[in-house]
Amino acid sequence: MYVCLCRNVTEQQIRQAVNQGACTMRDLCTQTGACSRCGKCGPHAREVLQTSLEASSSTHSR
Ligand code: FES
Repeated sequence: MYVCLCRNVTEQQIRQAVNQGACTMRDLCTQTGACSRCGKCGPHAREVLQTSLEASSSTHSR
């Protein structure tokens, strides 16, 4: 499902960005381009980021 329509960023791409080390909205914006135009996707992108971070921290239990 698309999160950012301006830059065609999907939830899957956000999860991949998190797997590659993104942990803030700034990282996400740099890596995927999400939220770099109109900003409407911000709240949803943040939600997917949080969920992915929680999921990845429980898989790589440190
Ligand atoms: S929908 Fe993401 S910047 Fe516009």
